[in-house]
Amino acid sequence: MSEVELAIRGGMIVTADGMRRADVGIAGGRVVALAERIEGAAQVIEADGLWVMPGGVDTHCHIEEPNAAGGLSEESFITASRAAFAGGTTSTVSFIPQWKGHGILERADDYARRAATGMLDHSFHQIITDPTDEVLERELPQVVARGIRSLKVFLTYDAVHLSDAEYLRVLRAARKHQCLVHVHCENYDAIKWRIEALLAAGLTAPKYHAWARPPVVEREATHRAIALAELVDQPIQVFHVSCAEVAEEIAAAQARGVKVWGETCPQYVTLTADDMARTSAKDGAFEGAKFICSPAPRGADEHERVWDMIRRGVLDVVSSDHCAYSFEGPNGKRQNGTDRFDRIPNGIPGITARLPLMFSEGVSKGRITPEHFVRLVATNPAKMLGLWPRKGGIHVGADADIALWDPQRKRTLTNAMMQHVADYTPYEGMEVTGWPVRVLRRGESVMENDQVTAQPGTGQFLPRAPYDMIAPRGITPNGFAD
Ligand code: URP
Ligand code: ZN
Ligand code: ZN
Repeated sequence: MSEVELAIRGGMIVTADGMRRADVGIAGGRVVALAERIEGAAQVIEADGLWVMPGGVDTHCHIEEPNAAGGLSEESFITASRAAFAGGTTSTVSFIPQWKGHGILERADDYARRAATGMLDHSFHQIITDPTDEVLERELPQVVARGIRSLKVFLTYDAVHLSDAEYLRVLRAARKHQCLVHVHCENYDAIKWRIEALLAAGLTAPKYHAWARPPVVEREATHRAIALAELVDQPIQVFHVSCAEVAEEIAAAQARGVKVWGETCPQYVTLTADDMARTSAKDGAFEGAKFICSPAPRGADEHERVWDMIRRGVLDVVSSDHCAYSFEGPNGKRQNGTDRFDRIPNGIPGITARLPLMFSEGVSKGRITPEHFVRLVATNPAKMLGLWPRKGGIHVGADADIALWDPQRKRTLTNAMMQHVADYTPYEGMEVTGWPVRVLRRGESVMENDQVTAQPGTGQFLPRAPYDMIAPRGITPNGFAD
């Protein structure tokens, strides 16, 4: 056993595989020992009554990302790091953008430099919006050589969506360069048609965002995304699955042996389409803009169906899809000076609330086990993104990224607690049971009792290895292998 610098004593260790009362020994930023009793450490953290869980791995975060409308998702890597640590997350994967008519290399250095200002250990997805020969054949190999092993594509949104032909080109290039592809699945033309009809009828309020993109547009695009991936034999992950009928498409493909996985987000088990119909004395119907994200949250009865899909393992990763736009301000929801639902930037802040919401709604309410919670928010995302075994678990050799969790702590969510940059949280006033009281990143205490102490510039880039295209990173449909 290496000399132990720091021991976490007396806590209940919760990993994907089980729960055990043991001490954790840490040296050089890594876990070096797990034992009933660890003596002689230079420093000790007493964890009686606390659960010792892997730090969250959030593989879908929009941070300092220019959006299609020319705005910027407001969070900087420094503010995102604070917000993530406040909620128990220690690693993220965010997105290097590409504009149509531009290459992918021109953004890569700038984005990496921005990310290096933060405190989170991090990797990137490369967004592809313009899959030219130049991009796929000359530039992509250079991005991949930097250890970026996942591509993100959109099947909707005006400025970024791909045609089927373009999507096929990306799938083929991803297969060649051993990358994973993540897909935003909604049918662009169908949504455009619905938006035009709603506007023509004078229906412009935020709640019509959900009317413009009902589940069928997500289901159709998911079916198509999977079918084309099957054709190319390229693994994909379907991002932010909002409802069971979409997850059923994934389940059916998994049963056929197709390499497809499904991610969902806390908003799809906590928010509803009715939230977009909320009004306030100050802002009238525009209050509903606070909840606009895509896909749109569905009916309240959908929540239990999404939990079923989580329990079945069809949805095996929960990310935040953190995309912070303030309500007010130059990049905010009002940025276009109009109440038209189709001009309100899509996305909600959620990097802090992800773990507390999933723990509270999942573990505290008895819907999933503590081990399943760890799998969803840390272990599976780390495996899916090729960050395992360094991230996502508590085992000898892993980075000592640890959330010390009080499973009994009750809190009422407020925007101030989120520590993000946005001026609101869509979860304001929600009660949760379970909260991270202290967070370690590579053995360093970075948050204690809501106080984030990490120094800017201390986050590390996490280069990733090629995927094995037969079973990427040992992942097999419907389950993760070691
Ligand atoms: O509404 C959302 N989800 N905004 C973020 C961008 C995306 O589609 O993931
Ligand atoms: Zn998306
Ligand atoms: Zn997103």
